[in-house]
Amino acid sequence: MEEELKQIIERVEEEVGGIRSGADFEQFKARVSGPNGQFTALSKRIAKLPAEERPAAGKLINVYKQRLQALWEETAHRLENEAIAERIGPVVDPTLQSPELPRGTRHLLTQVREEIVFILRKIGFVVADGPEVETEYYCFDALNTPPEHPARDLQDTYYLKKQSPFGNISRKAEERYLLRTHTSSVQIRTMLKEDPPIRIIAPGRCFRRDTADATHSANFHQIEALYVDRGVTVRDLKADLDYLFRSLLGPKAETRFRPHYFSYTEPSFEVDLKAEHLGKVGSEWMEIMGCGMVDPAVFEEVGYDPEVWTGYAFGLGIERIAMTLYGIDDIRYLYQNDVRLLSQFK
Ligand code: DAH
Repeated sequence: MEEELKQIIERVEEEVGGIRSGADFEQFKARVSGPNGQFTALSKRIAKLPAEERPAAGKLINVYKQRLQALWEETAHRLENEAIAERIGPVVDPTLQSPELPRGTRHLLTQVREEIVFILRKIGFVVADGPEVETEYYCFDALNTPPEHPARDLQDTYYLKKQSPFGNISRKAEERYLLRTHTSSVQIRTMLKEDPPIRIIAPGRCFRRDTADATHSANFHQIEALYVDRGVTVRDLKADLDYLFRSLLGPKAETRFRPHYFSYTEPSFEVDLKAEHLGKVGSEWMEIMGCGMVDPAVFEEVGYDPEVWTGYAFGLGIERIAMTLYGIDDIRYLYQNDVRLLSQFK
């Protein structure tokens, strides 16, 4: 009997290593240890042995049964591990360097905005914020912009429905909400909250009812600046803008003021830019932004004494600057998120 038991174990030991799947294993195991298996048949023979031989035979069978059991467990364990390994794929060496993955870049508009903010912070400006959904008061009235001004026209501005649930952030009893047409509204919000002197910049998104073409977009970005102190003059304005554009474009950049009209500044100017050393800007003056000295009517509106306080304000379009700096001839490129364009500006 022992001989037979040994043979079974040896065969199992020999063959079990070649089993690759759970199904094969179950079949194999059934042929040995199942109800009709060889080992089971052998152990049943105990009953037929003479009584005095049974204890020894029973012991022997138990020894082999345990060896078999160990083999089954070992194999089940091995098959399980193999299945897991197959699922997770080849072994990874975590100490190896990872392959160079393509890296994203900050969007060009973000880069230009951050650069302008960086430059202006160096001369004492801090960033201020305001909402994109504004009221007419902050966007127009308080900025001395009368109801008949074209900027307030339905054709130019996105008004929100009367019943829009924004709560009464407004200062007038009855007025409309709109998507802000410029960041100048942040001037008013800041001055109503804080006492002078003030030196803020307000970067942000603006909205106008424009049909998209190479130079227009219904959604664009501006940076507003407001400086209020005693004795601020046009010279401060000109000097600070020269500092800004020379920092952006190099020491040879030049600016020129042209008289203009904005209702919240007096006098008001449009600023032209020239940078002969840069092919992309060139030697022709190009209009780049608007600015002026804060109108006394605006100071009165926010409760600053115009006899004491003076200030300048300017607003520039980030798209305009980005397109000028990088020679981009269609504003729509800036919103298409095409990596072929964006990856050029790292
Ligand atoms: N708000 C003007 C615009 O959107 C830009 C501007 C002009 C801002 C003159 C100013 C300013 O602060 O003084 O076109």
